[in-house]
Amino acid sequence: MSTFDPDSEKATILFVCLGNICRSPLAEAAMRVHAHRHGFAIEIDSAGTGAWHIGNSPDPGSIKAATKAGIDIRHQRARQVRRADFDDFRHIVAMDRSNLTNLEAMRPDGSKADLRLLLDYLPGDPRRDVPDPYGGGSDDFAEVWGLVNRATANLLKALMQGESSPA
Ligand code: 4NP
Repeated sequence: MSTFDPDSEKATILFVCLGNICRSPLAEAAMRVHAHRHGFAIEIDSAGTGAWHIGNSPDPGSIKAATKAGIDIRHQRARQVRRADFDDFRHIVAMDRSNLTNLEAMRPDGSKADLRLLLDYLPGDPRRDVPDPYGGGSDDFAEVWGLVNRATANLLKALMQGESSPA
């Protein structure tokens, strides 16, 4: 991982949830697929604000939801957000307002990272938070997949148009 270079054209984005086993691994996967389809060069990663699941594979519910969409996320491993992320990533996108509050508290002085909620990129949906599906059923994970898939498609469009803000 190289340190973010503000003069570089390459976009860098980190998706963040609490455990990094349910929501942010799906956001990472969806964004990779959208970027690949559009031939857009971007560095993508995900992390959790909590430490409980460091080194773990995604939740079986997220693996199933991704598999249904034709994407294999079994290789992903959870990690915790670290200080260097605020230098390494230009965009840090939180799954819910609690994650965002935690990120704002961790953010080192002088960090130029742009912190946002993922659902800012889904303006037609009144929800602000991607619901936490941990311990839920396949419908909960399918709902999360639908939200992150649509929101990351809009986020990619904004990045491709050179905007970091939602349209
Ligand atoms: P995530 O879901 O933040 O979407 O990965 C959770 C995963 C684990 C826990 C909570 C939420 N947990 O409490 O262990």
